[in-house]
Amino acid sequence: MPRQLRLPIPCSGTAGGSPTVTRPIETQIPPPGDRERRREFRERHGREAYTLFAADGAARGQPMHLMHKYWARKDWYAVRACIEHYTRPGDIVLDPFCGSGVTVAEALITERRALGIDLNPMATFITEMVTTPVSERALRRAFAEVERAVKDNIVDTYRLHGACPGCGTRGSLIAWHTIRGSRPPSDYVVEPLCLTCHATSDERRISSSEAQRLTALEKSFEAVATAEGLWWPAEARLEYPNARRYRQKRRIERFEQHFTRRNLLNCARLLNAIRAVRQRDARRALLYCFTSHLACVSAMNGKHVSGSGWMMNRFYVPPDFYDESVWERFRRTYEKLCRANGQTAALIGERKATVVCASATDLHMIASGSVDYVFTDPPYGDSIDYYELTDFWRAWLGLEMDHADEIVINASQGKDVGAFGEMLTRAAGEIYRVLKPGAWCSVAFQNKDAAVWSAFSTAFALPGFELMRVVPQPPSAKSFTMTWTEGSPKTHVLVHLRKPTGQGRRRPRPALPPTLADLVGESLRHLQANGAHSPSLASVYDEVVSRWLTATYGTDGAAPSLGGGSFTLKDVKRTLEELLGDGGRQ
Ligand SMILES: C[S@@+](CC[C@H](N)C(=O)[O-])C[C@H]1O[C@@H](n2cnc3c(N)ncnc32)[C@H](O)[C@@H]1O
Ligand SMILES: [Zn+2]
Repeated sequence: MPRQLRLPIPCSGTAGGSPTVTRPIETQIPPPGDRERRREFRERHGREAYTLFAADGAARGQPMHLMHKYWARKDWYAVRACIEHYTRPGDIVLDPFCGSGVTVAEALITERRALGIDLNPMATFITEMVTTPVSERALRRAFAEVERAVKDNIVDTYRLHGACPGCGTRGSLIAWHTIRGSRPPSDYVVEPLCLTCHATSDERRISSSEAQRLTALEKSFEAVATAEGLWWPAEARLEYPNARRYRQKRRIERFEQHFTRRNLLNCARLLNAIRAVRQRDARRALLYCFTSHLACVSAMNGKHVSGSGWMMNRFYVPPDFYDESVWERFRRTYEKLCRANGQTAALIGERKATVVCASATDLHMIASGSVDYVFTDPPYGDSIDYYELTDFWRAWLGLEMDHADEIVINASQGKDVGAFGEMLTRAAGEIYRVLKPGAWCSVAFQNKDAAVWSAFSTAFALPGFELMRVVPQPPSAKSFTMTWTEGSPKTHVLVHLRKPTGQGRRRPRPALPPTLADLVGESLRHLQANGAHSPSLASVYDEVVSRWLTATYGTDGAAPSLGGGSFTLKDVKRTLEELLGDGGRQ
């Protein structure tokens, strides 16, 4: 079944240029709001409703958004649909937790004015790169400069003996990857790649002379690096809340330990050469390419990697990791960059976004009542350690970051759910302040603990946002980490809020708060009635959360509770099992 976006409607006319809302529409796929908007939409897309992008799973692969790893990246078509739904060309769209810049890019593509804020300088760097095209000529020249400076030296460190089984050329084979890990060098396995015909051949065990050459190279690492005057983040320590076990097991204390000596040397050579590029924009684009390729050439690269080299939401070195050829990976990433840059040039061109590295808890740079629409997703509680994970790239770029204002649940930063809620409340207050009266704010969120949802709900209820509609959003594709057992979210829920034009309504506490059994039962019936005969736990949970949030949001400004208690994904699972009887479901 095609995935569908269900958006509430900003309907019946406008006031002061911003949409006013009389009521949320309860159909699953509401068409765009008023008649004029509906006509605009139909003319532009040749269709009535927002199944347009969502139905097209293949369309997910936008080169500009695939260029660099980031966590919890939103599906571009969902963001675009929301922007087109709630705003008109020329309107101001803000994302105060912009991450890798999907909202900013989609706002520019749809000819809105875009404002992106993020506390993390890596996020604002990625956002700028995603939304600012670089001259193709300058980029090609810069790449050629870097190639001339370091390619031969780097490639030489992966040379293999013998002739290419494909084209017969001698001396043109390198190890595209070398399977290493805790095994001795004589047991390493290589996948030969021919630099003449570009074909790879079957993996084979490394020869003893190749292994000896590699060992000698790695022994001379310090001497070579000093002789070449190289820099790398040698001192950068791994600050990672879940790291104790990892560090003890892997004995990893510093970032550089995520790289073999060979690849550390080659990354340092590459960085050195990129830093010497004089043209600023092209240099920045190649630095972006550099950080994008880093995880692949690190020891975090395992067998099941497909491009980004970082499938987990944590640091992890698989027992048999794949040590990739730095030049070859960089070259391939550069090709991706050219495609991304071409797309940015075609879709965004000269249109510029305003991207600021700042905390969403203080948006003093934005005037009150000036923003037409917010689409955003704040960190989902404790799901992803953005500060610690992005340090892997920031360390190489020398980008400093103070995590004091990071909105997250993170023991090593001393932030519990209370601190998370308090900071999110400040951010929600700022979002409320900068929005025009009557304007909408769509927030994506997820957590498997209703206590965190409660902090979220309170944060947006306190400044006075009205809750218009809560819509579970399945992802377009399951990523490797999209399993609750990994502790990372499988789906997200879109919460559509609105800044009232007047005083806003305070809702009375429901006389009979729903019980978990009621919510689970209703959710199950709803999903089954909509064609999901055996719905997944995640989809039941999302329905439960949506119903619970809708029933309890903003009641007396208090946190929503469930008969005095709260619930987690586990409780939903147990209730579901009780409802269905033993063995009724997974
Ligand atoms: C879920 S991610 C956003 C992902 C983004 N929607 C995308 O598509 O890539 C949340 C972002 O919030 C940022 N963040 C955390 N605390 C913040 C704060 N106080 N102010 C602004 N951004 C913050 C994190 O750095 C992270 O990039
Ligand atoms: Zn060949």
